[in-house]
Amino acid sequence: MMKHILHLKSSIQGKESYSIKLGHAIVEKIQNKYPGSILEELNLVDLEIPHLSPVVLRTFFIPADQLTEEEKELIRFSDELVKQLLAADIIVIGAPLINFTIPTSLKAWIDHITRAGITFGYSENGPVGKVTGKKIYVAMSSGGVYSEGPGKVNDFVAPYLKAFLGFLGMTDLTVFRAEGLKVPEVKELAMEKAINSIEID
Ligand SMILES: Cc1cc2nc3c(=O)[nH]c(=O)nc-3n(C[C@H](O)[C@H](O)[C@H](O)COP(=O)(O)O)c2cc1C
Repeated sequence: MMKHILHLKSSIQGKESYSIKLGHAIVEKIQNKYPGSILEELNLVDLEIPHLSPVVLRTFFIPADQLTEEEKELIRFSDELVKQLLAADIIVIGAPLINFTIPTSLKAWIDHITRAGITFGYSENGPVGKVTGKKIYVAMSSGGVYSEGPGKVNDFVAPYLKAFLGFLGMTDLTVFRAEGLKVPEVKELAMEKAINSIEID
């Protein structure tokens, strides 16, 4: 069965990027499992999604049929990113660790896909995610080791993505890590270990 794959890249290290390499390896394994899948790649660094601003935030809450041309332009990024997300079956998210968290370009993407009434809503029992039926694979890369040992107390990226994307309805999330990329005696095998850990379900 063919799938629509969306691969998000957010590394600022270009061709040297480990999260991009890991993301490509994940995509390749998905394509092997689902031949003929459509792949859409999105480089969030090149896209330069702006930070949320007061005027964009206000515009998020205006009903679609009441938007002026100028307002439509203000939420163009958001509308296009949401459309692209909803069209995908499988999303591969490159998540390089930058200063203990995700890169700002990936945070900007999250801020622009989070739309009340579109990607999440409210029910009597609280918020409900509307982006359902997706499979998410996270390609993490980090200089240090955070999945175990002394670094574990600072393991924010995987729990954050799991919690927040889960809030939007993307509850089926698997993380693969290339970690210890700057740790002697760990870095040599980090990428190989990460690629070998990939399992597509
Ligand atoms: C600005 C910057 C900040 C970083 N901060 C951290 C950090 O807090 N913890 C860590 O383990 N590695 C940190 N690193 C190392 C990166 O996680 C590592 O280079 C990783 O390979 C980045 O992913 P990429 O190769 O896809 O760009 C940082 C790297 C840069 C360039």
